Formats: sequence, structure tokens, C-alpha cells
Amino acid sequence: MFRFFSLQELFVGGTDSSVQTTQWTMAEIINKPDVLERLREEIDSIVGKSRLIQETDISKLPYLQAVVKEGLRLHPPFPLLTRKFQETCDVKGFHIPEKTTLVINAYAVMRNPDSWEDPNEFKPERFLISSRSRQDDEREQAALKYIPFGGGRRGCPGSSLASVSVGTAVGVMVQCFDWRIKGGKVNMEEIFEGLSLTMVHPLKCTAVPRTMPFL
Ligand code: HEM
Repeated sequence: MFRFFSLQELFVGGTDSSVQTTQWTMAEIINKPDVLERLREEIDSIVGKSRLIQETDISKLPYLQAVVKEGLRLHPPFPLLTRKFQETCDVKGFHIPEKTTLVINAYAVMRNPDSWEDPNEFKPERFLISSRSRQDDEREQAALKYIPFGGGRRGCPGSSLASVSVGTAVGVMVQCFDWRIKGGKVNMEEIFEGLSLTMVHPLKCTAVPRTMPFL
């Protein structure tokens, strides 16, 4: 079955969530200089220092992909997903009448200690384990453990575009600038506003350009 989306749906849904994700991921990176260092090494070795990173590089940068995935795991811009039951049914002994609204707490699912080791820690390496395969990703998605883009037929149609655009934005910022923040650490306090999870104190930092031949 086809679904049509208006441009407004695509812009409203896609722009703010990508901005929020970029901001949270950069905040995590600034708080973890070892992650920034490792990311920069990967980018410098694959992309080099003579040009800017671009969208087509993302597939060759596994650590950058893992950083974006981990940013989305800890800070899903849409922490609550909803579904409506089209018919009455029984699930694990619970009777659910038709038209009941189901609210899925994706935030809690992705910090569940039964599924994730050190669930509140920003550890991109967890998505890098060498034995991981595409099937692992698919299994996690099917088991509904990793759901920043929701799932099923109403899952986010912009997930690939979002991963590449956030990856490129984060990649450029890491490649070209050193980051300084007053007080040394970003305040990660979060607030649930409207339908999305945002920073109480939006990220304010100083970007010092690195010496790059093309800048
Ligand atoms: C980091 C960026 C993004 C995140 C985290 C995100 C996340 C989500 C989530 C959680 C949903 C609800 C899925 C569900 O209920 O199962 C959704 C729906 C949607 N997203 Fe995204 N999204 C992002 C970027 C984008 C982009 C770039 C576009 C389009 C260019 C987009 C278009 C949409 C649309 C049209 C829907 C509604 C789908 C439907 O109702 O069937 N999103 N997104």
C-alpha cells in the first residue's frame, strides 16, 4: 500500500529532528574527547585533509555511523511513539478494546538495562563489535530494542536520509573545528517539549577552526 506525504509533513518531521539529533550528538562528543579524537582519526584517514567530508563518505566511516546511532539511542527526538488498535484483541492476557491508543516509550526501551550494557553511557563502540552483521541490526530492529525511527509500516521513511545528513553535519564539525565549552562540560539536562525531547540549555560553545588546507 502507498502512502503520500505532504512537503510540510516531510519538512516539519525531518528538519527539527535532524537538528536536535545533531545537537545532542555534538554535545556527547564534546563531553567525550576520546570519542572526538577517534572520530577525527577515522575521518582524517578515510577522507584526508584536503577536502570536506561529504554524504558519499558516510558508508566508509563505521565509527561515525556508530556515533550517530548512539546519539539517537540516548536522545531520540521523538521519545514516545503511538499506535491505535484497529480491532479488539488479547495480548499476553490483557484485553485491549478496539480504538485503544498504545503509547510506546522508545526512550525507556533504548535505555533498558536488560537490552543494553551501561544503558545511560554514550558508548558508540557498542555498535561496532566486529562480529556484528546487518542481520544483527535487523534483529535488533525486529525485537524493537533500537527504535529511534519507530518501526513497521508507520516507521520513519526518512531514516536513511536522516542518518546520512546528521552524519555529514557531525563529520564536518569534527573534521574542521576544535570545540571549547565554558565550564568544560555540556549540561545534558533534557526536557520533553511538545512531542520532542530537547536540551534545557541549548548548546553554546566556541568553534576554533583547525588548520585545514581547504579552509
Ligand atoms: C534524526 C532524524 C529523524 C528521526 C529521529 C525521525 C524519527 C521518526 C519517528 C520516531 C517517526 C514515527 C515512527 C513510528 O511511529 O513508528 C517518524 C515519522 C516520520 N518521519 Fe521521521 N525522523 C527523522 C527524520 C526524518 C526525515 C529527514 C524525514 C523526511 C525527509 C522524515 C519524515 C517522516 C515522516 C513523513 C514520518 C511519518 C510517517 C508515517 O506517519 O507513516 N523524518 N520519524
